[in-house]
Amino acid sequence: HEVDWDVSMVDKGGYSHFMLKEINEQGAVVRSSLKGRIEGGRVDLSDELQWTAETVASWRSLHIVACGTSYYASLVAERALSRWTDLDVRVDIASEYRHRTVRTDAKTLAVFVSQSGETADTIAAQRVARGLGAHCLAITNVRGSTLAREVHDTLLLKAGPEIGVAATKTFMGQMSVLYLLALYLGRLRGGITAAEESRLVEELNQLPYKVEATVAREESLSELARIYAERRDFLFLGRGYSFPVALEGALKLKEISYVHAEGYAAGEMKHGPIALLDEKVPVITVIPRDSLYEKTLSNILEAKARKSPIIALGTDGDDLLKSYADHIITVPWTDEAFTPFLTVIPLQLFAYHVAKRRGCDIDKPRNLAKSVTVE
Ligand code: AGP
Repeated sequence: HEVDWDVSMVDKGGYSHFMLKEINEQGAVVRSSLKGRIEGGRVDLSDELQWTAETVASWRSLHIVACGTSYYASLVAERALSRWTDLDVRVDIASEYRHRTVRTDAKTLAVFVSQSGETADTIAAQRVARGLGAHCLAITNVRGSTLAREVHDTLLLKAGPEIGVAATKTFMGQMSVLYLLALYLGRLRGGITAAEESRLVEELNQLPYKVEATVAREESLSELARIYAERRDFLFLGRGYSFPVALEGALKLKEISYVHAEGYAAGEMKHGPIALLDEKVPVITVIPRDSLYEKTLSNILEAKARKSPIIALGTDGDDLLKSYADHIITVPWTDEAFTPFLTVIPLQLFAYHVAKRRGCDIDKPRNLAKSVTVE
């Protein structure tokens, strides 16, 4: 394959693991994914996507299909796409999408999100959608990958090579590109006002700095890992934009530290997982200051009543959390829609430090391959 990077980028650059290096590159990844795609305060992808106004107007639904962490980035974007466009948005796991009846046709824009562009199920799902007449777009980090070669259009992450098996910086890159797509489609289809668009673009431009500021808080996560590294089970909770972040936090912990972790929609806790809770099971709640904040607070109280240690991941200056949680980790404020770019970082760092304390092979966890090229 053609590559967009040189050999010097493929060393640990002084970090103990590629994963940690890649976590630290995330501010730069957001910056490079925005570069050349924002013009005069507006998102402009017309160099990469030669879509006519007629084509864009013909779409009714937007399907996003992916696996693993790429699926979670898609779930985050689903929320933004539903808010900023008038499309009927649905997100699927590739291995499900390809085998079930989904109403896909020429009125569908189908987006396939894959870091490697080589994931077997994602490639197969694309073939199904394309066969049914959908317009297919790949969001990938690898130019010239199988997926990129087969679709109508591609948007590249420009994240540079990701060596660690655990996806970190490419999750960040995928969210960035999907958000650019959301704002672009919102504009082309008139789903978003010019004032709202410029406010969001301004905040998007601030994100690289906020991401860097969040990564710099690594020490508090290393300390949290020291306290909790020996626990056997964790529950991760979040609502709205924070729900996929909870899923991703749990996946990172499972994947690299082999600790059992469940990610759940906070509102679903009462429908089952609350039965798991006692003083042995820490609950990590993703609770930025957003429109669902109070509802998530009530879930914290429910977990606290079962004596679970509570770790709250909130927004800087949120003093209220102190009376609810045993440990508080905060990130800078950003618009609700962008909170996943910041809240995911402490969870990546927590998983990293737990894995390190447990002596795991962080960059090459057991039983896993960087890209899953078999079904
Ligand atoms: C993430 O940490 C995993 N290693 C895995 O879930 C990964 O995201 C998934 O296999 C999808 O890979 P892709 O993006 O290359 O298609």
